[in-house]
Amino acid sequence: MNDRCEILCHEVLQGPYRRIVFHAPEIAKTAKPGQFVHIRILPLRDRILRRPFSICSADPEKGSLTVVYKIVGEGTDVLSTMKPGDVCEILGPQGNSYSMPKDDEKIYPILVAGGYGSASTYFLAERLKQKGAFLTGARSGADLLLIEEYRKLGFDVRISTNDGSVGHQGFVTDLLAHTLREAGDRKPVIYACGPEPMLIALGKLALTLGVECELSLDQRMGCGVGACFACVIKVNDKTNADGWRYSRSCKEGPVYNAKEVYLG
Ligand code: FES
Repeated sequence: MNDRCEILCHEVLQGPYRRIVFHAPEIAKTAKPGQFVHIRILPLRDRILRRPFSICSADPEKGSLTVVYKIVGEGTDVLSTMKPGDVCEILGPQGNSYSMPKDDEKIYPILVAGGYGSASTYFLAERLKQKGAFLTGARSGADLLLIEEYRKLGFDVRISTNDGSVGHQGFVTDLLAHTLREAGDRKPVIYACGPEPMLIALGKLALTLGVECELSLDQRMGCGVGACFACVIKVNDKTNADGWRYSRSCKEGPVYNAKEVYLG
């Protein structure tokens, strides 16, 4: 679906982080946690490429679609100047989604996010009937996002920062062992989004511990529809002599079971 969508609300979350809400009823109707949208920022009309953004929330009743982003380059810089009433062209929802447990399944969801990966896991937190833990890691406290929103949804929030300014000083993976103990008789399931080194470390740890784990790989993208191979990642493939093949994360992903991803 490719829609012209009006901006309903655009706000500063903190520092370079922004939250933007679009009127996008068709996308909001079908969007699932883990999917992304590909946005053409119309003031950059001469640019061919769209920018991919994880869906942070979608409300089918209101027809709204929320994205959280960080100003990191020219595209997001221009986007940050757009106001309610302005219009973007949005393609989506794109890609696959996290696997959703049945409402009565006895699972203990552990959502793990690095940086603004917390936008992708937030949509999942909203839709899950089961509440669990939200582990988030960032460089410093200034890069932690949506903490209160996760608490309001009933998630137990645990924080790590590289500089120790908030929470545990170290990596978010350090928080996992303690959190797993709290699952009790529920089956722990990890859902994660963030920088690749964090996801690789988390995937390896989950496999070692025998815990179900889904990773949303936040790759650079070009076309967003499977045509350009800009977004490839390595996945296991025993039929190949090397034991792996490339997978287009915009089509087969962005969410992969940790067992599928080639973790080196
Ligand atoms: Fe072009 Fe995935 S972004 S194939």
